[in-house]
Amino acid sequence: FCCKTFFYIFGDPRKPLGEVGQPVVLSFHLIQVEVIVSLKSLQNAVSSFQSDRLLIKGAKIVNDDQSFLADIYMEDGVIKQIGDNLIVPGGVKIIEAHGRMVMPGGIDVHTRFQMPDRGMVAADDFYQGTRAALAGGTTMISICECHQWREWADSKSCCDYSLHVDITEWNKGNQEEMETLVKDHGVNSFLVYLAYKDVFQLSDSQIYEVFSVIRDLGAIAQVHAENGDIIAEEQRRILELGITGPEGHVLSRPEEVEAEAVNRAVTIANQTNCPLYITKVMSKSAADVIALARKRGAVVYGEPISASLGTDGTHYWSKNWAKAAAFVTSPPLSPDPTTPDYLNSLLSCGDLQVTGSAHCTFQTSQRAVGKDNFSLIPEGTNGTEERMSLIWDKCVTGKMDENQFVAVTSTNAAKIFNLYPRKGRIAVGSDADLVLWDPDVTKIISAKSHNLAVEYNIFEGTEVRGGPLVVISQGKIVLEEGSLHTTEGCGRYIGRKPFPDHVYKRIKARSRLTELRGVPRGLYDGPVCEVTVTPKVMSTVSSVKTSPAKQQQQQQQFTHQPVRNLHQSGFSLSGAQIDDNVPRRTTQRIVAPPGGKANITSLG
Ligand SMILES: *[C@@H]1O[C@H](CO)[C@@H](O)[C@H](O)[C@H]1NC(C)=O
Ligand SMILES: *[C@@H]1O[C@H](CO)[C@@H](O)[C@H](O)[C@H]1NC(C)=O
Ligand SMILES: *[C@@H]1O[C@H](CO)[C@@H](O)[C@H](O)[C@H]1NC(C)=O
Ligand SMILES: *[C@@H]1O[C@H](CO)[C@@H](O)[C@H](O)[C@H]1NC(C)=O
Repeated sequence: FCCKTFFYIFGDPRKPLGEVGQPVVLSFHLIQVEVIVSLKSLQNAVSSFQSDRLLIKGAKIVNDDQSFLADIYMEDGVIKQIGDNLIVPGGVKIIEAHGRMVMPGGIDVHTRFQMPDRGMVAADDFYQGTRAALAGGTTMISICECHQWREWADSKSCCDYSLHVDITEWNKGNQEEMETLVKDHGVNSFLVYLAYKDVFQLSDSQIYEVFSVIRDLGAIAQVHAENGDIIAEEQRRILELGITGPEGHVLSRPEEVEAEAVNRAVTIANQTNCPLYITKVMSKSAADVIALARKRGAVVYGEPISASLGTDGTHYWSKNWAKAAAFVTSPPLSPDPTTPDYLNSLLSCGDLQVTGSAHCTFQTSQRAVGKDNFSLIPEGTNGTEERMSLIWDKCVTGKMDENQFVAVTSTNAAKIFNLYPRKGRIAVGSDADLVLWDPDVTKIISAKSHNLAVEYNIFEGTEVRGGPLVVISQGKIVLEEGSLHTTEGCGRYIGRKPFPDHVYKRIKARSRLTELRGVPRGLYDGPVCEVTVTPKVMSTVSSVKTSPAKQQQQQQQFTHQPVRNLHQSGFSLSGAQIDDNVPRRTTQRIVAPPGGKANITSLG
């Protein structure tokens, strides 16, 4: 009450009251009140005073399907009316749009603010990260999470956010956790890795199981698609050649390693009838695989990021180590300089649908952990602030119109992740997350002017045309006349429901179509050949991952049952095998499954 009254009397809410924690004496005519200034009450007062009721006059409203002229009235963070000559309460703050475009605030579906890496933490925390997002016109982010991040984000984020959950190991117990996350915590997307061998990477059969669970829960499978086994071999080879700098990063992760993994993910998703979302599409051939799969009818979406749309991987060869290292991210930026143009074209024609930033920045001193070994450089690039301007500059100059721009910067993401039409659309009842866009403003991107905590900007020197003039988040003006007015911790966690229609209508129809039936026929009663089984010894050195007890057990079974016996074999039609708990694709191990070894076993 005090603060509200105070601001009301003294006007400008942005002028400091006094020092936080210090008493301030306020005089109201005959009454004197002493208050202690608390940061929270200040912020609350500022934000509640600041434009709770807003009217945008003369806007060209841009949704993904149409543009039209109207006024927009919003109150309590929600759009209440759209139309001409609206009847609104007095004392409303008015923004004159003068026919300029107003579009839904951007949704950055992929950020990793404050991400921990070997005891270090990514340079931009949730406060700096979301501030940068707002500065670029993005009003909602999704973060890839572990539980702690939810806490950090709660106290620091200045815009709304939701979560994707990483699945970095797999056992049957995870299934219940996933179910709880979907049913009670508003998570509807899970990210798995085909890369990062021995750390995050899952095997194909594990991915198959995870995708099946994801489909049953009505969620979206997200995949970091790169072939981790090949990368591990290539890293070793490149390091042995004496190449230790950032160029080794891209040399050890050639484009086809990305394309192969995308194709594998598409195949497993199609076989399990699970919707698929490929994060960080970085190369032409990976994008082509997605486009082709979509043409064949697969339910798959592709997410190029600010970095792959805005710059290329030639910088890995920079003589300046710090600069070259700043571009290290996985999959790597393509050394082919025509890649950004190609990806922008695919984004424009709808072959790719969603854009993120994968924003995860490290300072040069943090990157320098890998100064003698590129495989140790922490990965990630910036791009949350630059994303919308970059896409406008590169695409809305003949390749896409303003409606498609809205589709790829917010609407498609809102539809896929079930936030639509609360987010991603300007309509009565939608959240008042809006951007007044100036198509002509030009800006040269530079580390000096951006709102982040790091020294290099991978887009340094890039001139972009198009940017936000006014940004409104939760019905409050957060960017105006070039200055940001953000409140730490005012971002809300937005839960997302499973089974988004946009994705699952097709998935449900498919599951009805694909019931398989065997052929009814009589039993074969002719002679059956006796089979002798010799164990295939791949090497006498067994993997450390196979426990001695297990080997002993296997060998015992082998000696007692030299003949393959289907009833006692570890195979089941579900695809589960008795040794599923033994990691596949580990190096040499004795392959002798219980029940004897035939030539038709899975080698992973
Ligand atoms: C998906 O699988 C079905 C059935 O196996 C097959 O007919 C179809 O061609 C596959 N689609 C793609 C895109 O691979
Ligand atoms: C480089 O780092 C990797 C871990 O990523 C390690 O396995 C390898 O031994 C290191 N190589 C050199 C030459 O330091
Ligand atoms: C942009 O990305 C580079 C590469 O990670 C980083 O060095 C630079 O600090 C980032 N700049 C911003 C604005 O985050
Ligand atoms: C397994 O395959 C090898 C070579 O293909 C063959 O010599 C051997 O007889 C086969 N063993 C069985 C049990 O079929």
